[in-house]
Order: sequence, then structure tokens, then C-alpha cells
Amino acid sequence: MKILAIETSCDETAVAILECSGTPKDGVNFRVGANIIHSQVAIHQEYGGVFPSLAKREHSRNLVPVLKQALQKNELVISDFRFQISDLKKQKIEKILDREPELLEQFLRYIPTIEKPNVDAIAVTYGPGLEPALWVGINFAKALALVWDVPIIPINHMEGHFFSALLKKNDTIPDIQHTTYNIQKIHFPLLALLVSGGHTELVVSRDWLSYERIGETRDDAAGEAFDKVARMLGLPYPGGPAIAREAARFQRQETRDKGHVVRFPRPMKDSGDFGFSFSGLKTAVLYALKGRGRTPALVAEFAYEFQEAVTDVLVSKTIRAAKEYDVRAVLLGGGVSANTRLKDALGEKLAAHDPDIRFAAAPREFTGDNAVMIGVAAYLHAVLNQQKYDPGEITAQGTLRM
Ligand code: KG4
Ligand code: ZN
Repeated sequence: MKILAIETSCDETAVAILECSGTPKDGVNFRVGANIIHSQVAIHQEYGGVFPSLAKREHSRNLVPVLKQALQKNELVISDFRFQISDLKKQKIEKILDREPELLEQFLRYIPTIEKPNVDAIAVTYGPGLEPALWVGINFAKALALVWDVPIIPINHMEGHFFSALLKKNDTIPDIQHTTYNIQKIHFPLLALLVSGGHTELVVSRDWLSYERIGETRDDAAGEAFDKVARMLGLPYPGGPAIAREAARFQRQETRDKGHVVRFPRPMKDSGDFGFSFSGLKTAVLYALKGRGRTPALVAEFAYEFQEAVTDVLVSKTIRAAKEYDVRAVLLGGGVSANTRLKDALGEKLAAHDPDIRFAAAPREFTGDNAVMIGVAAYLHAVLNQQKYDPGEITAQGTLRM
């Protein structure tokens, strides 16, 4: 099955093409024909975070070029081909893309120049995320589904992050052109720690496509806390990688110097439930900064201690949940899972607790937002529940839950 996947929930415009095969029972394979991600980071950097109306405008502007790149990469495009869009379809597309005139214009200019690609379904993120941004991707998917006459599979972004943690690069099938990944046979129950810019959740899964959220953040998400603290420290957006870099710099110095003095709280570490709260930690950083200059040494020390505090809380709660739910595997996914300190600490603590529990983290290339994970989730939905969706009923759901 060939899937074209679209992701526009936040500040990445992403399109992927996947060739999927296999069943969850025996293992699933994904050949990544294209994985194009156009990041808007440079544009949002000025605001220190994602600016929704700008994100929407950028998605409208970039979806057609990103699709074009994906199709060319996958050699699905035949140039100089005239693909007739009937007047009736054109009217419908004008209605679908009514609020995205720039996208409509590019769509009507580009799509008739290429042959209908050989895809069986279009997967698209419909939530959670920024609604104006989600709508652009959804409307684009609807327009493509209409001209090419293929079904749409709407996907929850967090489910994408969940499956990204199960992907393993396949080195046994050498494929020079395209990378292949697989999801091996898995044993339930699984516990997933999903940490991104908008979410911090612990999810227990007892079967394919079945999820129970056992804990989540009461206020800021972990990634959001990284972004906000980075801003206080004068570091660029996105804050996660910047803080991680500073923390590593501090550690290199710390081994030479005397250690660190600043201490931040570990909010809700011993709360007895699986909830999180990061806004108090952010405030603690703000207070500790009062009256002090942001010298390079201070920034590195604060970044280090902040990262330790977040890691400490996330790891200890995840281990406790793994014990309580007696899980066979722990997954780590979402943008913050790119943090090597978090990933290493969780892997080590879990192995110390029970070496038989499998630990799987998203491959580095799929930690942040991408469309491959959306295509992967769509394939599993197609294989496992074979549901048909009416495009007219697909809407953006900013606060969609798993
Ligand atoms: O999953 P993602 O790309 O987008 C959302 O769905 O939100 O996550 C983005 C978040 C940002 O807050 C970013 O600062 C954080 O992931 N992040 C990191 C690292 N790389 C990205 N946080 C900590 N350490 C990192 N290395
Ligand atoms: Zn995400």
C-alpha cells in the first residue's frame, strides 16, 4: 500500500511518501520514498515561539513546493503531462481552498501538470495542534483526494509520535535509493512517554490502536518549558536543542571546576499520580535569575540544572508507571525525545529496574514533527480497522486527545 502523508499541525510543513507492507502480527515494513520537511523555525524565531497566523500562511505557501519535491524524490512525477481537472471538480476545489487563495492558485497551476501518482490513500494530521495550521493540511488533503480520487485517513498527531518510537531502521534490506524501517512484533502492554512542544503524556497501550492516558501535564508541556526557559536565558527558539547544548557545555566545564550551586525544584515528582507540572519550574528559573547577569557561565549552569530537573521528573514517573502497569516495553517519542540526556537516563534507569523491559525511542530523524509518522499511523489504521472516512466530515481538532 502506498501512502502520501501530510503534516501541518505546528511549524513544519511536511509531506512523505511511504510504501507499506506486512501486518502487525508478523511485522510491518515501510519504505520511505520521500520525507520532505520544510521548517518555519527561522520565521518564528523572532517571536520566540510559534505564531499561528504566520504558521498558517507559511503552510499555504509551502505545501505545493513540498509536495512537488516529495513526488520528484519518489520519481512519481511525469512532467509535461496534462491532467484535466473537470469544471465540476475545479469548482469544488475552489470551495475547499476558499480560505487559502495562495494555495489554491499554486494547486491549480501545478496539479494539472503531473500525472496522478500511484498512491492508495492520503494521510493527514487533523489534531491536536494549531487549528489554522491543521486546516491548511486538511484542506490540501481534501483537494488532492478529490482530484486523484483516493481516500483520506485522518490521523492524530500524538499517535504519530507514538508509532515513531516503534520504528527501527532496517539494515538487513539494503536499499540504496530509499531507507526502510520496520515495526517488529510487539508485546503488550506498552507504556509511552510522549513529550513535545504541546504535550507531555504517559499513555498505556494494551493492544494495537488502543490507548489509555494515565497522566499528562497540568500546565506547560515539557518542550514548552524548554522553549520558555531558553527565552529567559537569552537562547534562541526552539529552546530544547539550545538548552541541551548549553547543558553539555556546562558539563564539560563542571568536570574541570567545582560543580554547580543552583538548584531547581522537581515539581510533582512525588505526587503519587502520573501528572506533570512544569510551570513552577519555569517560575523558579525566573526567580533565580533576578538581579543576576546572564553571563555565559550562569546560562550554562541554569540550562544544565533545568534539564536535570525535567529529566528527573519525567524519568522517575515513567519508571513508576512501568512498574505499576507491569509493561513489556517503554516507548519515548515527540520533539523532546531528541534530548540525549533524557533518552539515556530513561534507558539506564529502566534497564536497572528490569532488563527485560524493552526500551524504544524514536530514531533521531523522527523525533520532531514529520509526515512519515503520520503515514505509519495511517497504514496501521488501514490494516487494523479499515474504516472509511467521509472527507466532508474531517475537521481540524486543536485539542484532540488519544
Ligand atoms: O514534536 P515537536 O517537534 O512539535 C510538537 O508537536 O510540539 O516538539 C517540539 C518541541 C519544542 O518545544 C523543542 O524545544 C523540543 O521539542 N525539543 C527539544 C529538543 N529538541 C527539540 N527539547 C529538549 N531537548 C532537545 N534536544
Ligand atoms: Zn509533534
